[in-house]
Amino acid sequence: MFDVEKIRGEFPILSRTVYGKPLVYLDSGATAQKPRSVIDKVDMLHRELNANIHRGVHLLSEEATEQYEAARAAIAGFIGAAEKEEIVFTAGATASLNTVAYAWGERFVHAGDNIVVSEMEHHSNIVPWQLLAERKGAEIRVLPFDDAGALRTEQLSSLLDGRTRVVAVTQASNTLGTRPDLRPIIEAAHRAGAIVVVDGCQGVVHGGVDVRALDCDFYAFSGHKLYGPTGIGVLYGKRRLLEEMPPFLGGGDMVDRVTFARTTYAPVPLKFEAGTANFIGAIALGEAVRFLQGFDPAEIEAHETALLHRAAERLAAIDGVTIYGTTPDKCAIVSFNVEGVHHYDLGMILDKLGIAVRTGQHCAEPVMDHYGVTGMCRASFGLYNTLSEVDALADGVARAVRMLR
Ligand code: ALA
Repeated sequence: MFDVEKIRGEFPILSRTVYGKPLVYLDSGATAQKPRSVIDKVDMLHRELNANIHRGVHLLSEEATEQYEAARAAIAGFIGAAEKEEIVFTAGATASLNTVAYAWGERFVHAGDNIVVSEMEHHSNIVPWQLLAERKGAEIRVLPFDDAGALRTEQLSSLLDGRTRVVAVTQASNTLGTRPDLRPIIEAAHRAGAIVVVDGCQGVVHGGVDVRALDCDFYAFSGHKLYGPTGIGVLYGKRRLLEEMPPFLGGGDMVDRVTFARTTYAPVPLKFEAGTANFIGAIALGEAVRFLQGFDPAEIEAHETALLHRAAERLAAIDGVTIYGTTPDKCAIVSFNVEGVHHYDLGMILDKLGIAVRTGQHCAEPVMDHYGVTGMCRASFGLYNTLSEVDALADGVARAVRMLR
């Protein structure tokens, strides 16, 4: 049985107060809070198992290496990868996406090629492709969304052609909450000979993923939004593509043999893990995955959907509120504005009431441009949020609006 109060007990930060009021944390889209098991793991690793991986013959190094590789296997299982070698540990989703854009793009994207990017992408799934396009003389083509926040997938066929190398798309928009139906997009991209790079930052948290069923080519996410630590992320890639892709960063641990005449590289995934890996972050991310596997994903989804529906209903009842992103299958993210009220002022007053939301452009400026706004207020939910917190948000917004108007 999904017991939200019991779950909250696993997250120490949720019992703190801000300005003397109970914390209502509605910014999990930016970073999720950490359960005790993850916090304890990080602590234990520093106290008892801190040793560099893949390097020592001593016991600590061997144990740390074993746990690091076990975390890789756990994450492979969690996202449905065929094998653990398809999981590359990175510093975060941004590093994962840049790795593909630089390394795969360097070899396989040429002048005159094009890259299709959806209009609802986070900057991390736009800017690396723009940089690549600039370096190579390639073209960026934009797959738009409609005012409800649905991707206009029917327009994809007019954007794809024999020169399309990459389609970059999110599994769940960090601003609109939209979860596009990725299967037809991936199938169409593959028919055109393009690879598909999926930003899974929000999607892996809200609903999870089976990368093999999806048949995406690369999939990126961050640990800290998945109830794990900061500074660790994942790049999933199909083995064949990872093998074809040249290394991105050079240094220790990614090599086979180094001579001044010629250097050869370690097999995947180590070829992409130059330098001392964030092994503590990776092992703790494995712990976060174990924590999540203790729940029925359908129950998490049902709980988050109930939060989302209550939030949408209560906010929509406030005079002047516009909610951005109203597709039926969206995830538990609600971005909104109130007529005549600046999103930043609203966020400031909510903060004083103990309610943490994000305000601004949400690293998705094209989404702001689509709606002609400079920013939005965003409430993003985690599995630990409650319906009474949603009510606190709605009451807080109503109160703030009365003050600001
Ligand atoms: N990308 C994070 C967000 O959506 C920071 O808030």
